Amino acid sequence: MARTLHLEIFRHNPSDPESKPRMQHFEMEETASMTLFLVLSQIRETMDATLQFDFCCRAGICGSCAMVINGRPGLACHTRTSDLPDHISLHPLPVFKLLGDLSVDTGTWFRQVGQKIESWVHTNKPFEPHAPEERMTNTLANEIFELDRCVECGCCVAACGTALMRNDFIGATSINRLARFYIDPRDERTSDSFYELIGDDSGVFGCMGLLACEDVCPKKIPLQDQLGIMRRMATLESVRGILPSAIRKKFLGCKESCSC
Ligand code: SF4
Ligand code: SF4
Ligand code: FES
Repeated sequence: MARTLHLEIFRHNPSDPESKPRMQHFEMEETASMTLFLVLSQIRETMDATLQFDFCCRAGICGSCAMVINGRPGLACHTRTSDLPDHISLHPLPVFKLLGDLSVDTGTWFRQVGQKIESWVHTNKPFEPHAPEERMTNTLANEIFELDRCVECGCCVAACGTALMRNDFIGATSINRLARFYIDPRDERTSDSFYELIGDDSGVFGCMGLLACEDVCPKKIPLQDQLGIMRRMATLESVRGILPSAIRKKFLGCKESCSC
């Protein structure tokens, strides 16, 4: 027999001075293969057209439908109601600016941290539009691709104790993003340059290491590994001049010719 789903959904319009944050109750019959995205669409189409939530791809690709589902950040389009109890609470992601109901502004946050960590390949080579692609091994290309799969949904940031406490923390997503450039041979930045970007409490040293970020990442990105690699790099950079250079380079995995 089909279940009746009981939904408690956060409602608030911060641009309306009359609006007060509240929870609103909805009920509906569960159908086969129902996702939370379908639930919210049905509510908006048949019960309350003012309900705000974000979506685009409906396939776990765009990252826009992230919200807190029964206390845990996740993607609405990737969450089947059959995996949830019949009482479901939905809240907007914390940390990000609330736009209304379940809709938050992740774009501004990601743009700001992207600028802060200088999220692009740094090279002194002049741009040559007709140059052939730079070659790299398949193994390395796959390693970079693995870290490039982030859809900027914000789940890892919303689950992060440090991000909730300090608004300058760049989050596991940004550390992962920087790790992607750290292993990219086209990026000419040295460990010293990376250290300048993340070697403080707003970066790797602010991370408490409890790994809620990796637990909730819908793309299963190995955030734990990347946090470890970048923290080790930053720690070794911070003892530059104290630790013998050969040992430092060994831990950093530098080539013999490396002058960092
Ligand atoms: S491990 Fe670090 S980045 Fe991940 S949730 Fe915990 S404090 Fe945040
Ligand atoms: S690392 Fe995972 S949880 Fe964090 S923003 Fe990217 S896809 Fe979302
Ligand atoms: S709608 Fe794109 S990830 Fe859910």
